[in-house]
Parts: sequence; structure tokens; C-alpha cells
Amino acid sequence: MDDFALIKSRHSVRIYKDRPLKEAHKKALEEKVEDLNQREGVHFRLVWEEPKLFKQRVPSYGQFKNVHNYLLVAGDKDMDPMVLGYLGEDFLLYAQSLGVNSCWVGMARFFNKNLVQEKEQKLFAVITLGYGINGGNPRPSKSLDQVTQGKKPYPDWFIKGVEASLLAPTARNQQKFVITLKDDGQVDFHHKRGFFARLDLGIVKYHFDLVTKSKGDEV
Ligand SMILES: Cc1cc2nc3c(=O)[nH]c(=O)nc-3n(C[C@H](O)[C@H](O)[C@H](O)COP(=O)(O)O)c2cc1C
Repeated sequence: MDDFALIKSRHSVRIYKDRPLKEAHKKALEEKVEDLNQREGVHFRLVWEEPKLFKQRVPSYGQFKNVHNYLLVAGDKDMDPMVLGYLGEDFLLYAQSLGVNSCWVGMARFFNKNLVQEKEQKLFAVITLGYGINGGNPRPSKSLDQVTQGKKPYPDWFIKGVEASLLAPTARNQQKFVITLKDDGQVDFHHKRGFFARLDLGIVKYHFDLVTKSKGDEV
């Protein structure tokens, strides 16, 4: 499956089968986390077979079931949430490529403050993991014109990047991002006001970079 097809196949999945993850999948995901944690200030941690967190009433609008595995998206307190969104989405799409479904959960971080015990670190979000009872569903999206700025006609690579960005998960599907194609061909990412909008922007930029092979700037 190519990267665009992988992105298209992903939807948030909140209801999972009551079945443990395969050891090979756990191992692959652990290795991925080890790799992502090489970045300074990033402290992702996988939690396996721990059903309690989501059995308590996590303040979330979505209904979750059988969440037994999750990733703590943690980092140094002063970390730019955009970086954690970017790397978290790298992890999430890798999980998707293995057939492991997921959902970003922002509100979990307010719920259980002792999930990350180190004083200088902070929990920015959680990503649930498991085999979904299905692959989730497509949802409404803004249009390309609503999230872009720049001189038209846009080149094909830019359109493809924006289409991949529109398929990115954002908190409450708010899609508060704006992608600008500048006259010099550089791409600029920014966001309007919104809860988790900066973390969302990192997620969106990861989608854009993946299909355009990093035509944007480094995060
Ligand atoms: C930063 C962030 C926080 C989120 N928080 C929650 C949440 O607390 N509860 C929930 O059910 N879904 C949450 N979601 C999932 C979004 O609702 C979902 O990504 C969005 O509706 C788009 O749907 P899709 O992921 O299927 O494309 C969150 C997503 C992101 C990116």
C-alpha cells in the first residue's frame, strides 16, 4: 500500500476487539517508539494490557470500548506540541500499516496526572491501540480552498499534500490549519485558534510531508 492509500485507509477507531495484540506487532511498535524517542525531549511510552484507564470515565466525547493498549504521548514540559503531533502521527501511521487501529485522545491528559511521573515531563495526549471491530468511518472535511492560501493554479504535489492533510485526524475534526504556498515555492503551516490546534498542526504536517517527501520545512 502506498503512503496516500495508507492515509486514506485510516480513521479513528474507538471500539476494539477484546483480543491482545500479537507479540510481533508489540515488538515492532516498541522499536518504533525507541526510534522516535531519540529526539531530544520526546518521552513516548507504550502501555500494554492495561484496561483500567479507559474503564474510568475518561473525559472524552467519543465512546471507547476495550482499550487495553495505548501510547503515552509525553515530552519535556516546554516541548512544542507540534513536534509531538508530528512524531505521534508517524507512530500512528506505522501502527496502521501493521493493521493496528488507533485514536488520538487529547482529554486523557487531564484525567490522570500521574500517568507521567517525571516532574519535568508532561503528557500531551494518548493514542489508543488495538484491533478495531471495524476500520472506522470517513467523516466530513473542509475543502482544499478552505485550508489553503497562495497563488493558483497550485502544483500537483501541493494539491496532493493538502489532500493528505485533509485526511489527518484533528481534535473534534476542527481542521483549524492553514497551508500556504509561498511565491518562492516554500510551504508554510499555521493554525487558527483552537484546542489542541498546535498538536493538530504537527499531525497535519506529517501527512503533508509523507506524501510530498518533505517539501515543507523541518519540524
Ligand atoms: C489532538 C487530538 C485529540 C483528540 N481527542 C479526542 C478525544 O478526546 N476523544 C475522541 O473520541 N476523539 C478524539 N480525537 C479524535 C478526533 O475526534 C478525530 O480524529 C476526528 O474526529 C477526525 O476523525 P478521523 O480521525 O476518523 O479522521 C482527537 C484527535 C486529535 C488529533
